[in-house]
Amino acid sequence: MASAVSVTDLRKTYTGGKGPTVEALKGVNLTVAEGDFFALLGPNGAGKTTIISVLTSLITKTSGTVEVFGTSIDTDPSLTKTHIGLVPQEFNFNIFEKVENIIVNQAGYYGIPRGQALKDAEPILKDLGLWEKRHTPSQQLSGGMKRRLMIARALIHHPKLLILDEPTAGVDVELRRSMWTFLRKMNEEGTTIILTTHYLEEAEQLARNVAIINKGQILVNEPMQGFLERHDNKKLEDIYLEVIGVGEAE
Ligand SMILES: Nc1ncnc2c1ncn2[C@@H]1O[C@H](COP(=O)(O)OP(=O)(O)O)[C@@H](O)[C@H]1O
Ligand SMILES: [Mg+2]
Repeated sequence: MASAVSVTDLRKTYTGGKGPTVEALKGVNLTVAEGDFFALLGPNGAGKTTIISVLTSLITKTSGTVEVFGTSIDTDPSLTKTHIGLVPQEFNFNIFEKVENIIVNQAGYYGIPRGQALKDAEPILKDLGLWEKRHTPSQQLSGGMKRRLMIARALIHHPKLLILDEPTAGVDVELRRSMWTFLRKMNEEGTTIILTTHYLEEAEQLARNVAIINKGQILVNEPMQGFLERHDNKKLEDIYLEVIGVGEAE
């Protein structure tokens, strides 16, 4: 099957500014198949957001090759960007803007005219339970609604690949479950999904393939089922802690 994402020997060193030089990615290799539901796991500071930021051309890589649906991010970043919908880790919409405008403005970045965007936004907002709030300034939304707005915004240009960077952080159980249902449906309908999360149960429930990164290096990259079986079907959380070496060094 074609690859949605193909990353080879990716390195990223943060330099400059007042801070120290940080070698965030130390030769990462990663393949995500088209149609996959892929979990990227790792502790804080492991390099997950850095990988995502390179994929989406938000930051430049130090070296390595990155292809999105067969196109290099070096040769055609605007094309690769149109394939990706990103739900960033932090809320980053204009809080004074109304829900509908946030989505329509985003569509504008992809050249989708306002009238078309309004039409396209309707089913997305309905699916995510935000339709009634479309004229509400985003600062008046609950935390869970803000999360869903981030997802709606990421979907307005119908990306083939949806990347969610800790979308359920601080989200209550009920909303988390409804988000799972939504993401499963998106995936069943053909959208490739990459998810980073701290909720390992979530990764276990949703993902077909899993990668674990620690200190800028990929430690595991295999089908979730096989990975669990290889570890005597222990809970993913326990295996994860073993893999990243927590409690072993002391
Ligand atoms: N803009 C930046 N400047 C300098 N260092 C950074 C920057 N962004 C991230 N880092 C560092 O890179 C490493 C990986 O960070 P990140 O990709 O955000 O990890 P994760 O998303 O897995 O928590 C960390 O050591 C982090 O402090
Ligand atoms: Mg992160």
